[in-house]
Amino acid sequence: MSGPADGSGGGASPLWAKPGAAVEADAMAFMSRDDVILDRELFPFDIRATRAHVKGLVSIELIEAEDGDRIDAALAELDALFASGDFVLDERFEDGHTAIESFLVEKLGEAGKRVHLGRSRNDQVAVALRLYMLDVLDRARASCLAIGRAALGVARAHELDPMPGYTHLQRAVPSTVGLWMGSFAEGFADCAELCALTRSWLDASPLGTAAGYGVNLPLARTRVADDLGFARLQINPMAAQSSRGRLEHQVVATLWQAMQEVRRLAWDYSLFSAEEFGFVTLGPGFVTGSSIMPNKKNPDMAELLRASAAVVGGAMGEIQQAMSLPSGYHRDLQITKPALVRAVKVSLEALAHIPRLIETATLHTGRMRTAMDPAMFATDHAVKLAGEGVPFRDAYGRAAEAIAGMDADACDADASVRSRVSPGGCAALMLDEIEARLAD
Ligand code: ARG
Repeated sequence: MSGPADGSGGGASPLWAKPGAAVEADAMAFMSRDDVILDRELFPFDIRATRAHVKGLVSIELIEAEDGDRIDAALAELDALFASGDFVLDERFEDGHTAIESFLVEKLGEAGKRVHLGRSRNDQVAVALRLYMLDVLDRARASCLAIGRAALGVARAHELDPMPGYTHLQRAVPSTVGLWMGSFAEGFADCAELCALTRSWLDASPLGTAAGYGVNLPLARTRVADDLGFARLQINPMAAQSSRGRLEHQVVATLWQAMQEVRRLAWDYSLFSAEEFGFVTLGPGFVTGSSIMPNKKNPDMAELLRASAAVVGGAMGEIQQAMSLPSGYHRDLQITKPALVRAVKVSLEALAHIPRLIETATLHTGRMRTAMDPAMFATDHAVKLAGEGVPFRDAYGRAAEAIAGMDADACDADASVRSRVSPGGCAALMLDEIEARLAD
């Protein structure tokens, strides 16, 4: 479809143009920025919400049923054209919302002009963003569950294989691969749960709040919200507008939590794949070579996954900075959109790579075992003495003195990890419980 001149963001007059009022192309371009490109992410959701809005208008007899059907069919067509790439959302339009109305007017004439009754672009963008974010949270949750299951698989396969446990990156106490990988299984189960919690926080429809003060119509808001699958209404129109940006922030913060787990995993992989550790060899598809040093296999994938968390954190900061507004809609809010979309893309892409990264990593359990030294058993020794009745502080002192003379042969890593029997300990990882949380 060629662009209707009256929908243009770059050239001719936008939806809101009044006769005789000038539109400055450069100023328009500044105000639209990359809005129309970003709206590509929202477009299918905007179309979906528009279909529900029109059905709502039909239900209160403000659009005739026949027109409603024609509009609905045209919107379904637009959805398909957009999906196939035959309708391109570009600078011909001020934004995605304008593109929808322009398409309907061009296709249906008068009926198309009826669609915007009872709504504003303010609640239109709010509802599209809300549907987009709910979808993002579902996808992020599914990814977290998949990652957790991949980590759990490794934890099970190496449940009692000893490896050093570190604090401050210094050797601390004997641990296991099961404990290490189980920590990611539980960590990602927590992130999946956070996605669900954030989802329910967001699951309220702002549609029908119009510009932020409602309209002089008996809109079927609840029916429209149900139609869109929302759990409830966001009732107060001003509350709906002032939650814009803050919901985005919470979604990005939720993604950031998952990306923190990614960052920790990536850190561990890059560290443990260094020759000095030699605990892990990353899958061949996840390392790169050097242009000068023929010997190198660099963990670039792990490093870029680690850095992706920084992009998400940056986006969170960007959104925070825009959040200093009085009541009502302000165009400032538009600037939260690029940060949201960027954080979503980076996070979802990063998360999607992790299961395979985990599954293709080779673990060198022999090397982990030999990286343990007798001093790492000092805590076990102190705890054992205390168990025999010595006050712990005295036992600690005696164990400290014994370190120098500790015999490597007497340090049995297998016995040590098998004696860690309290819930969560190496011998009681409760992987079944974690697995239950990872079941979709
Ligand atoms: N692109 C705008 C945004 O993201 C859409 C809403 C425009 N509303 C307005 N009153 N100018 O906020």
